[in-house]
Amino acid sequence: MKVIVNCAMSADGKIALKTRKQTRISNEEDKKRVHKLRNSCDAILVGVETVIADDPKLTVNGKYVRNPRNPVRIVLDSYGRTPKNALVLDGSSRTIIVTNSGCKKNFPNAETVRCGRKDVDLKKLIPILEKRGISSLLVEGGSRVIWSFLESRLADEVFIFVGSVVIGGDKAPTPAGGEGVDSEKAMVALRLRSAKVLGSGVLLRYEVVK
Ligand SMILES: NC(=O)c1ccc[n+]([C@@H]2O[C@H](COP(=O)([O-])OP(=O)(O)OC[C@H]3O[C@@H](n4cnc5c(N)ncnc54)[C@H](OP(=O)(O)O)[C@@H]3O)[C@@H](O)[C@H]2O)c1
Repeated sequence: MKVIVNCAMSADGKIALKTRKQTRISNEEDKKRVHKLRNSCDAILVGVETVIADDPKLTVNGKYVRNPRNPVRIVLDSYGRTPKNALVLDGSSRTIIVTNSGCKKNFPNAETVRCGRKDVDLKKLIPILEKRGISSLLVEGGSRVIWSFLESRLADEVFIFVGSVVIGGDKAPTPAGGEGVDSEKAMVALRLRSAKVLGSGVLLRYEVVK
């Protein structure tokens, strides 16, 4: 499975407001790039907190891509907290809600996968998704989910768009939240592949060193 992480952060390294509400960080050039990237992947994955905070549709916008193919939408949601009226459940493309094995909830217009005892077990999830025909996965956030994919070294590539805004605040989420590491040795090493100006911002592309 090829796993690509993508996010947009401010110049001061935040991915949302201090209230964890979404804000505009990327620009038109970056949106076009992201929608093309989505269209090239078999599935797009986010955590349940992103669904609750932003209610993203996770589809490919025909404004940016001709003949959009709409990848599978996947939500990591151990306890089944995805709201029934969330846009990912609108039936406009195939959706998989991944809960832990103790959760019994089902969702309209979505398949359910049970995987893991507490959090979703990502190492077990990958082969399950492969069996369902998914061989490329775009991880779009949020902070905790991106950290899990990096920390487990399941991510292969990371795209970070750096928008020319400052959000500030100690509590605003960063691209990688979660537990973090407490030693230099445990840091996730990245290899910079490219850095290019994209309109008003900068696009960084890294490979995860494994
Ligand atoms: N700028 C951007 O590019 C961008 C993109 C997306 C999101 N965001 C922002 O990111 C923020 C949300 O990030 P977040 O860190 O609060 O939440 P998140 O990463 O969206 O979701 C985390 C939740 O997913 C569930 N989960 C299940 N299995 C997991 C696993 N193995 N690893 C990690 N999480 C797992 C957990 O909830 P349960 O315990 O209930 O299962 C966990 O609390 C929002 O502010 C949003 O606006 C920004």
